[in-house]
Amino acid sequence: MSPKLVSPIFPWLILLALGSLCFFSSITITLRQSPSSPTSQSLKISRSPACNLFRGHWVLDPHHKPLYDGTCPFHRNAWNCLRNKRENMSLINSWKWVPNTCDLPRIDPFQFMGLMRNKNIGFVGDSLNESFLVSFLCILRVADEGAKKWKKKGAWRGAYFPKFNVTVAYHRAVLLSKYEPKQSEAGDQNGLKGYRVDVDVPADDWARISSFYDVLVFNTGHWWSHDKFPKETPLVFFQAGRPIVPPPEMLDGLKLVLGNTISFIQKEIPAKTLKFWRLQSPRHFYGGDWNQNGSCLFNNPLEKYELDSWFEPRNNGVNKEARHLNHLIGEALQGTDIRLLDLNHLSEFRADAHPAIWLGRQDAVQIWGQDCMHWCLPGVPDTWVDVLSALIYKHYKGR
Ligand SMILES: *[C@@H]1O[C@H](CO)[C@@H](O)[C@H](O)[C@H]1NC(C)=O
Ligand SMILES: *[C@@H]1O[C@H](CO)[C@@H](O)[C@H](O)[C@H]1NC(C)=O
Ligand SMILES: *[C@@H]1O[C@H](CO)[C@@H](O)[C@H](O)[C@H]1NC(C)=O
Ligand SMILES: *[C@@H]1O[C@H](CO)[C@@H](O)[C@H](O)[C@H]1NC(C)=O
Repeated sequence: MSPKLVSPIFPWLILLALGSLCFFSSITITLRQSPSSPTSQSLKISRSPACNLFRGHWVLDPHHKPLYDGTCPFHRNAWNCLRNKRENMSLINSWKWVPNTCDLPRIDPFQFMGLMRNKNIGFVGDSLNESFLVSFLCILRVADEGAKKWKKKGAWRGAYFPKFNVTVAYHRAVLLSKYEPKQSEAGDQNGLKGYRVDVDVPADDWARISSFYDVLVFNTGHWWSHDKFPKETPLVFFQAGRPIVPPPEMLDGLKLVLGNTISFIQKEIPAKTLKFWRLQSPRHFYGGDWNQNGSCLFNNPLEKYELDSWFEPRNNGVNKEARHLNHLIGEALQGTDIRLLDLNHLSEFRADAHPAIWLGRQDAVQIWGQDCMHWCLPGVPDTWVDVLSALIYKHYKGR
């Protein structure tokens, strides 16, 4: 990790918002209850033969309560909205995601951990700064309070659940491919400094550990921006150890990385490993970008008719950046056995669920602006966990 990348400011400086695309709505999954499976109340799924968990709407349900609180040891301070006394946290957590043609069951941590006994779940990528992981760990900890923080070389962070012999961990590889600072050399790339990205070499952080996992969730996204890698220190793409000529633009480089990473996954990761690729969640800056007093003090989720004006690139709003990028990812995944985890569309509605001005530090807003990119915990990422666990459950328990 180069100093340039670890140093600066907070991450929401930097992000690409990802919209979901109609394109993805055609992907459906089948969730059917088998009469013989020992499902409980929590796994009640409608009779509908096929159900797309990614499409639906939010419904206010006063009985919907978080499964953990501000004392969970896996919290990150800035997103521990209970501890930071964010207003209306109970309202934020009273919304329930209802897919169009079925019910999304709430995760039952005991049942889920029973299913995952002796198995491991890994996240690889930028993990949108870990809010997904923290939510997952806090929820699973309900079933095993003896959960221990887990750290190993190459693993960013995670937890081990001794009661079930389950590890859930995050491997940080923000671009997925190997990359390192590139010093200027005479006659090379006009002496430009930047970052060398070997599009055909997966980052060490995950390539060698992937066989440890039974379930893997990949992503990449918000690092592919000129905020992270400005023109003066660009990404310089290499293939087979040589600079690619002519040098690809950033998003063309992303395409190469996606193609190569996906081939690697298909070739090297055992077929029995359940593989997902999650899309980035959107930002909700209103009235300006993060550095222009953009704000997200909303009391309710957005309405469906509002989404396009917020996120559709052609409307040129501040949260527009990367429905485009999403599309690239969706295209790259076609024809593979990596399942798309579109957590983006359901998150697009939730302009009300970010830490906003409740960041646990008096001067944080003055310095960095509101945080309309990360998510309050407990909050929307808990629904991501419901979706992921339902898909994992379906995979292991069958039709
Ligand atoms: C994630 O959050 C940590 C702690 O707040 C911060 O230091 C780091 O820069 C963030 N990383 C990214 C990729 O946003
Ligand atoms: C724990 O799970 C691993 C697989 O992740 C397995 O190899 C090991 O034998 C298990 N340990 C016990 C005590 O069951
Ligand atoms: C943000 O708000 C502050 C204080 O109200 C103001 O001084 C500043 O000009 C605003 N910045 C932008 C970019 O609008
Ligand atoms: C909290 O919710 C109430 C009722 O909807 C609203 O009046 C108030 O403005 C909200 N507070 C914030 C900070 O959103």
